[in-house]
Amino acid sequence: MKTITGILAATALTGVGAANAADLEVTHWWTSGGEAAAVAELAKAFDNGTDHTWVDGAIAGSGGTARPIIVSRILGGDPMGATQLNHGRQAEELIQAGLLMDLTDIAEAEGWKDVVHPSSLLDACTFEGKIYCAPVNIHSWQWMWLSHKAFADAGVDVPQNWGEFVAARDALEAAGKVPLAMGGQPWQQNGAFGVMTVALGGLDLWKQINVDKNADAAGGPEMAKVFEAAAVAREMAKNSKVQDWNQATNMVITGEAGAQIMGDWAQGEFQVAGQTAGEDYTCLPGLGETQILDTGGDAFYFPVNKDADVTAGQKELAALLLSKEVQVAFNLAKGSLPVRGDVDLAAANDCMKKGLKILADGNIMPSGDMHLTPDTTSQINDLMTEFFADPSYSPEDAQKSYAKIIKTAD
Ligand code: GAL
Repeated sequence: MKTITGILAATALTGVGAANAADLEVTHWWTSGGEAAAVAELAKAFDNGTDHTWVDGAIAGSGGTARPIIVSRILGGDPMGATQLNHGRQAEELIQAGLLMDLTDIAEAEGWKDVVHPSSLLDACTFEGKIYCAPVNIHSWQWMWLSHKAFADAGVDVPQNWGEFVAARDALEAAGKVPLAMGGQPWQQNGAFGVMTVALGGLDLWKQINVDKNADAAGGPEMAKVFEAAAVAREMAKNSKVQDWNQATNMVITGEAGAQIMGDWAQGEFQVAGQTAGEDYTCLPGLGETQILDTGGDAFYFPVNKDADVTAGQKELAALLLSKEVQVAFNLAKGSLPVRGDVDLAAANDCMKKGLKILADGNIMPSGDMHLTPDTTSQINDLMTEFFADPSYSPEDAQKSYAKIIKTAD
């Protein structure tokens, strides 16, 4: 079915009449319940709004699994039509190699500079003045999700900050709960550590380390406190025994665990489970200590393609992803915030409303993906996996290793 939008988009963006229909293979790592519901909204919009067909290329596992597969396919000359990645430095090498489509003409035709909010999202898609990705959401790591059932079973009030959460540990354990649910993948331990750095060390400290690469700050007394808190988190998470992030989220949903530090993509899981924010679970931005959100998130990149029909389909998809309708339908399902400041999220739940207010108040920070190279991120991931897996790994020794990584970070 072709809509007027599709015809206008095809003509405007490709400069020719409606192109022939193309099958567009789209890769991503959205395989949990909430993620699948969200990506289905994108596929539906593309199939209904253009003559082209979305061929879903879901890659199971987390970004840590999918990213190398995606990058090696593009480098190896077997590109997909479009792929999700986190916006920021992950695609830098592919852009430098000339393997990703320049979307600047679409961005200008669609007025992205005027509608994308905050504008830092588009900066994260911009390399040497050209735009190479279509940002689709704002995801923030800076959240903790708490199970009302777990705390009720333990006979304690739902904590409103990290300190109260740590104080509830014994009661949770006495009630047979895992205090802190955490999956066993490196990006999850590193993500939680980053949230604790901002929440307990402050944004300035986080910026000194992640933006300025200040190894003295990384090895200093303020970070020592964060590493001590991370050792407490390690103790509280030791009986999690799950791998995937959404399995850990499910421990909170069922009340088996008290809480999880996880990005707001966890919202999609609570929604699919039919749980209501404020009634079944509580969300604490910045662990209830520092009300701030990072503006990380997802974007779609389009590998250069020789087939004119595929190219036309790529351009139409890029334009469609930032349309108001798609932004609302996708982000409500994904639990993320839209990249446009001009859409009405009437159906947003309490947690999304908390996020929208923090965003509107400008209490935002960049994501690590925007400042650390994949290589540096990978080194910190490995350090955090070792630290969280080995109770004998002292916070002091881990901090020394951390400072060394930051010292050589580029
Ligand atoms: C992030 C991605 C989110 C979510 C999460 C867990 O990198 O931005 O959309 O998918 O991984 O898989």
